This record gives sequence, C-alpha cells and structure tokens, in this order.
Amino acid sequence: MANPELAIIPRHVAIIMDGNGRWANKRGLPRTIGHTKGVEAVRDTVKAAAAAGVEYLTLFAFSSENWSRPETEVNDLLGLLRKFIRRDLAELHRENVRIRIIGDRAHLKGDILPLLLEAEETTRDNTALTLVIAFNYGSRDEITRAVASIARDVAAGRLRAEDVDAMMIGERLDTSDIPDPDLIIRTSGEERLSNFLLWQAAYSELLFLPDYWPDFDRALFFDALKAYAARDRRFGGLSTKKKAPEAVAG
Ligand code: FPP
Repeated sequence: MANPELAIIPRHVAIIMDGNGRWANKRGLPRTIGHTKGVEAVRDTVKAAAAAGVEYLTLFAFSSENWSRPETEVNDLLGLLRKFIRRDLAELHRENVRIRIIGDRAHLKGDILPLLLEAEETTRDNTALTLVIAFNYGSRDEITRAVASIARDVAAGRLRAEDVDAMMIGERLDTSDIPDPDLIIRTSGEERLSNFLLWQAAYSELLFLPDYWPDFDRALFFDALKAYAARDRRFGGLSTKKKAPEAVAG
C-alpha cells in the first residue's frame, strides 16, 4: 500500500452502524429517512473496504432486540434490507463480493430468510471482500445456541465435558468460518458493544466515532484504518511495535 499510514490493514472490520434516527431528528426528518441514508453509507463503506484490501466487513444490520421497535420502523428496516439485496446483489456479485449472514435463522418469517440465503448462495464462491450481514443477531443468543449444541452432544454421549474448550465454542458460533474482528467501529458517540460479537471481540480494537452513521463515508473509513494502524495490539503479551531509536537507547 502506497500510503505508509495504512501499512497495517485490519483483516476484519466490524461496524455498529448507529445514529440513523438522531441524524434524521437533527434535520426534522422522519427516522426512516435516516435509515435510507444509512443504506447509502453502507454502499460507500463496502466499496471503501474492498478498495482498502480488508478481507471481511461485518455490518450490524438488525439486532435480535430491534424487533421491539415500533412495527412501522421494523418494517422500514426490513424493507431497506430487502431492497438492498434485490438492487445491489448483482453488482456485489460482479464485484466478486461474498455475502455471509450471521444471526438466528430459526424463527424468521416471510421472504427475508429466502432472500438472505439466495444472496449467500449466489455469492458463495466469490473471493474478494466477504460482507457479513448480522441480521436478527445478538451475541448472547449466538453463544447460548453454541453452548446448547455442545450440551446436547454431551448429553447424547458424543462428547465428553472435559473436552469442551474455547476453540470448540468458537467453532459452533455463527462466525465459525470468519476470523475475529481486528477493529470494531461504532458511530454516533455511543461507547458500548450492545450485544455485538462479544466472544469474538476479546482482542478487537474498539473505535468510537462521534459521526452519525448516515454521515459515514469512504474518508471516515480510511481515517478509521489510520487510527487502527497506530494502535499497539498486544493480545495479552508485550508490545511488538518498534520503539523510537532514542527510547530504545534510553
Ligand atoms: C441504528 O440507528 C441503525 C440500525 C438499527 C439499523 C442499521 C440499518 C441500516 C443502515 C439499513 C439496512 C442495512 C443494510 C446492511 C442494507 P438508530 O435507529 O438506532 O439511530 P438512533 O440511535 O439515533 O435512534
């Protein structure tokens, strides 16, 4: 990469796209306009991530808790996701983007699950960016499903309790074939993970930005990559960053 500030590209960036409602409120617009603008930011971000050479981009599109929003807003969000898949799938496929869905698929009604599965199936052999859409996703639900599947295997005698380890739990999460996120970004000034990738975030760098999601764009994405490149990741060990020569001498 020509720009040395971007020398360390995170393999996996995950984003909590927050602030659509506040973006709209600030302008006296209905919340749904904020979500619609949010989809434009999604398009910019997917392009920016692919251009930067990021391998995995996970977007928190709809949480298992979002069903508690007013029905009209839930329908707006589902409608936008449907429209995104219908309108953008062909282009994403052309761009060699692979789509993966994480979240609970068991209780989804209507056409949304078939659409998401079609997007996954159509793009399964693509080799550029993997776009992971977290839909009906909640981390505690995901971990609970993984633990329940282990418990079933232990109860059936297929597995010994003493063989259960962290790797096995990771292999039963929705993200079993996806590396842990290197960088998690949340927009809108809120500083929490809100049940997003809690297991996978063990060593992720967290970046909280003041901007509302509809204002997020390529420039902010590249700024985030620069901020990531300046971080010192230690994974519980010691720093591997080179020290300035005077510091080494001292
Ligand atoms: C948070 O804003 C955003 C969401 C709950 C959903 C994000 C969804 C999209 C951007 C559109 C569909 C997604 C894809 C991948 C096409 P908020 O409503 O919580 O904002 P607020 O906190 O300001 O009220």
